Amino acid sequence: MIEVQGLTKVYGNKTAIDNLTFTVEQGEVVGFLGPNGAGKTTTMRVLSCFMPPSSGTAKVNGYDIHTQALEVRRRIGYLPEHNPLYTDFTVTQYLNFVGEAKGLSRLSRRQKVGEVIERCLLHDTREWIIGRLSKGYRQRVGLAQALLGDPPILILDEPTIGLDPKQIIEIRSLIQDMQGERTVILSTHILPEVSMVCQRVIIINGGRIVAVDTPESLTHRLQRSTQVRLHIEGPPDQITDRLREMAGVLRVETTDGAGALHRYLVETEKERDLRQELARVVCGSGWGLLELRPVDMSLEEVFIHLVTEEPDSVTVDR
Ligand SMILES: Nc1ncnc2c1ncn2[C@@H]1O[C@H](COP(=O)(O)OP(=O)(O)O)[C@@H](O)[C@H]1O
Ligand SMILES: [Mg+2]
Repeated sequence: MIEVQGLTKVYGNKTAIDNLTFTVEQGEVVGFLGPNGAGKTTTMRVLSCFMPPSSGTAKVNGYDIHTQALEVRRRIGYLPEHNPLYTDFTVTQYLNFVGEAKGLSRLSRRQKVGEVIERCLLHDTREWIIGRLSKGYRQRVGLAQALLGDPPILILDEPTIGLDPKQIIEIRSLIQDMQGERTVILSTHILPEVSMVCQRVIIINGGRIVAVDTPESLTHRLQRSTQVRLHIEGPPDQITDRLREMAGVLRVETTDGAGALHRYLVETEKERDLRQELARVVCGSGWGLLELRPVDMSLEEVFIHLVTEEPDSVTVDR
């Protein structure tokens, strides 16, 4: 569906993206995750033929971005960063205008504009001036214009930026609804967003791809150690000492508690499942085991890990 090969963009002496290679399959929702300045917008602009790359190629539905830009553009619905809209148009006027620019006939425009208005829950505001809409509604208009003409691919540059939590949920759910039906690349610097919305994540930092994987497997792959959370009734000092003595235990930390009831975070060697052993030790010592569960590393931790240290140690599946 989308094949990117060695894409590089240089502005003056600044390399914004450096030799990016990845593919996106049909119907996938892929998250482009990276901090500000990582190169997300640059990549999206190149893919949607807003500007040419300095080197490298990309094919969208088999069409080359260099030689078949018009064909590429026809297949992509693009929501640019900051969602530029004509604020003195009404929603319907604006969408009609975009439909015309996309080459829809008058008749099909009427129908298609109606469809995207329903789809993006804009019915009640269809005659409103865009300038009077809330940010969340404007973003819906942005999505609606991207959807006009039924492009098989959507490229959404930070679609939830600047929205309040309720609006974020609404926009995410509109995107989630498209899963399987359209190929979506969306960029974000918000970590929970990728695990909520995307099947696959491409982590980019400093213009380079640092990792490509599913959110779950990224988390799993990068876990250096396994953590187990315990809630135990018993003397905290003795418990901490006893747990520290166990083979395979790297670290024991008391997180909170009062009196004889405390929570403990036990870090063990990776791939060493000490849960049974931990339960045996606690119960064997006559303490009360109230809870024992493994802890997953959050995507946030994975991300920090990937962009701050040893990116070379990560196998990149492309
Ligand atoms: N028009 C431009 N001229 C010069 N440098 C730019 C331009 N656009 C982006 N850059 C630089 O390229 C890098 C990547 O930017 P961008 O693609 O906007 O990243 P992101 O969208 O991930 O925040 C940044 O260092 C940015 O400063
Ligand atoms: Mg950007």
